[in-house]
Amino acid sequence: MKNPLEKCSIGLGITGSIASYKALDLASKLVQQGASVHPLMTDGATKIVTPIAFTAITHNSVALDLYDPSSDIGMDHVSVAKTIDLLIVAPATANTIAKMALGIADNPVTTTYLATESPVLVIPAMDGNMYSNKATQNNIKTLKDSGVSIIGPYKGHLASGLQGIGRMAATNEIIDYAKLIMAQNGDMTSYKIVVTAGGTKEPLDPIRVITNRSSGKMGFAIAEAARDRGAEVTLITSSTALPNIAGIHTVIAETADEMATQTKLYSKKADAIVMAAAVSDWKPTVASLEKIKKLGVDKLNLELTKTEDVVASINHQKLIKVGFAAETQNVVQNAKRKLKEKNLDLIIANQISQETPVFGADTNKVIFVNKNGEEDLPEMGKYDIGQLIIDRVKAMAHQIA
Ligand code: CTP
Repeated sequence: MKNPLEKCSIGLGITGSIASYKALDLASKLVQQGASVHPLMTDGATKIVTPIAFTAITHNSVALDLYDPSSDIGMDHVSVAKTIDLLIVAPATANTIAKMALGIADNPVTTTYLATESPVLVIPAMDGNMYSNKATQNNIKTLKDSGVSIIGPYKGHLASGLQGIGRMAATNEIIDYAKLIMAQNGDMTSYKIVVTAGGTKEPLDPIRVITNRSSGKMGFAIAEAARDRGAEVTLITSSTALPNIAGIHTVIAETADEMATQTKLYSKKADAIVMAAAVSDWKPTVASLEKIKKLGVDKLNLELTKTEDVVASINHQKLIKVGFAAETQNVVQNAKRKLKEKNLDLIIANQISQETPVFGADTNKVIFVNKNGEEDLPEMGKYDIGQLIIDRVKAMAHQIA
């Protein structure tokens, strides 16, 4: 199983918040992930969004009435609870949260919550004062203490027209957490993996840096792929532009020196390190403490000093080392040399040219090179390449064990 939501059965409880319409988008995105979604609605929710919309999106009937013998849930009010892998209540009103905390089961959402043994994810959305009220806060604490995961709410524009806390978490974040929860059944749960990402930034002065075109997307995709299979992932990155991935310990390392310090530290306890960062090979010998002024300076000579080769310097027994090699010429030949010189188990090589804009793209065309030979792969998504790298890491770990 690669995407933990694929073939996953999800109960989606929708309650009567004005944010109910956002649950349609969530249902659609969950279906696109390959999940089978079973909508459950409270009366309040049906007054805001029509159940037909959820049926159309999920291709499943909506559980609406506990006493309707013609509905799925009416025949057996806990049938959904028994079959789902995950229950998401989104949006969850203060009223539903209160009922869940007290164990009241008077509609398909609360009944399913009470009866299910699956993990539960609650996404509150409500008026700011209702959220801040001690009763709601106590109820949320009760749910958390019972092992329920809660995301948000966040500050922002509320339906009342006011700014405040109460906004429902974004669909992408909910999907990300759902994956994190389901990844606990993955095939890499006993592995600790360090991934580095992005181009380092070497300061010239407090304002200017020397950097490169790496966006960090490849490293983030590998980290996500490892997370999706249950690995404990530390992502060491210079990039703050990409969104955080739930369940991944992210460490910011801007410069090559910081990248070296953090990577050495976290790789001590790791099973594998995947070095996707484009670490600068040189840094300014001296970084000016003040801004370098241009007045009277027509030519500026910079002196650069070589940085430490991070991946080459880390050599713990049993640590699987995967490197990258972005090359403009002699791709495989250079990759083979680096494989040897840096004592890597695998290197991911790719050709960089004007015609192949790899940096910042969502796809890449790579060649896997190890001591046994090379495998030229077709162009594919960076996440899929990440999954293949994790496959290789797993296979190598089994060889060592
Ligand atoms: N790398 C590293 N520390 C550095 C430079 C590179 O750990 N100071 C790692 C990269 O993260 C990558 C691998 O080494 O996994 C190869 O990086 P690359 O830039 O392709 O090779 P270099 O050894 O820097 O050689 P060159 O730039 O001359 O091609």
